[in-house]
Amino acid sequence: MEILTTAAALQAYTENCRRTGQQIGLVPTMGALHEGHLQLVRAAAAECDVVIASIFVNPTQFNNPDDFRLYPRLPEADAVMLAPAGCTALFLPSVAEMYPRPAVVQFDFGALERVMEGEHRPGHFNGVATVVSKLFHLSRPHRAYFGQKDFQQVAIVRQLISDLTFDLELVAFPTVREPDGLAMSSRNRRLSPEARAQAPRLYECLQAAAQFVRAGQTGPAVQAAVRGHLAAVPDLELEYIAVADADTLQPLTENYTGRSVVLCLAAHLGGVRLIDNVVVGVE
Ligand code: PAJ
Repeated sequence: MEILTTAAALQAYTENCRRTGQQIGLVPTMGALHEGHLQLVRAAAAECDVVIASIFVNPTQFNNPDDFRLYPRLPEADAVMLAPAGCTALFLPSVAEMYPRPAVVQFDFGALERVMEGEHRPGHFNGVATVVSKLFHLSRPHRAYFGQKDFQQVAIVRQLISDLTFDLELVAFPTVREPDGLAMSSRNRRLSPEARAQAPRLYECLQAAAQFVRAGQTGPAVQAAVRGHLAAVPDLELEYIAVADADTLQPLTENYTGRSVVLCLAAHLGGVRLIDNVVVGVE
């Protein structure tokens, strides 16, 4: 596995791959890798000739300076895991390399970012779209792999690809979970043992809420049930629970028939912010 730290080195690598007719897969990450990330890399390796994984804790997508400061950084351990998963090149740039000058262009995804993460983390998707655009330009992938764990991020990247005519296929990969249901996340490392023990309640609650949606309960009733369930969990503060159309991400209150409904939540558990979602196809 090659380790590339400059934009020029990444461009040279991908130019060579393109010239020799190789299919390029890109897996953008912020590191502190877990099995969810590695499954994206394995999926890319199964479908592409070369796989570029990037590790970059992108400052422009953090709206909370403490979250940025405390974000786990483990590049050496990450690098060891990537090669056996099928990664052929690791892009590990510095902040100065990615942002030689502060970025000025602003992305506005309209209604798509006025809800959920976009509503609660102002500027977050501007930073995501900025860095993902840079990574797409530098690596010119045939396919880019993103996890559905970040459901709204997938919708934003899909819009970005469409609006800016990036010539690549977006692959959305299902959420990888711990055996007890907790969605894998780099932030799980920061959970205390007590908080970790309570964390599976989030997914349990989403599954119960999915049943309520299938039974035709209104959006506000589903939201109230989730709030009620999670109020009993110690040290847990629910930030939002959204019941939305899975394509537009706009709130749905009732009449789910024939729709794909997504339930998304964010919660602070012992001071660590976690997100999760489930998609419910309603017949
Ligand atoms: P990060 O949180 O490191 O996630 C990198 C990729 O792994 C994302 O596409 C994310 O959805 C996916 N992922 C994380 N946990 C997962 C899980 N449990 N199951 C499946 N996929 C999972 O998302 C980002 O970084 C950044 O916003 C980034 C796209 C790299 C831009 O900076």
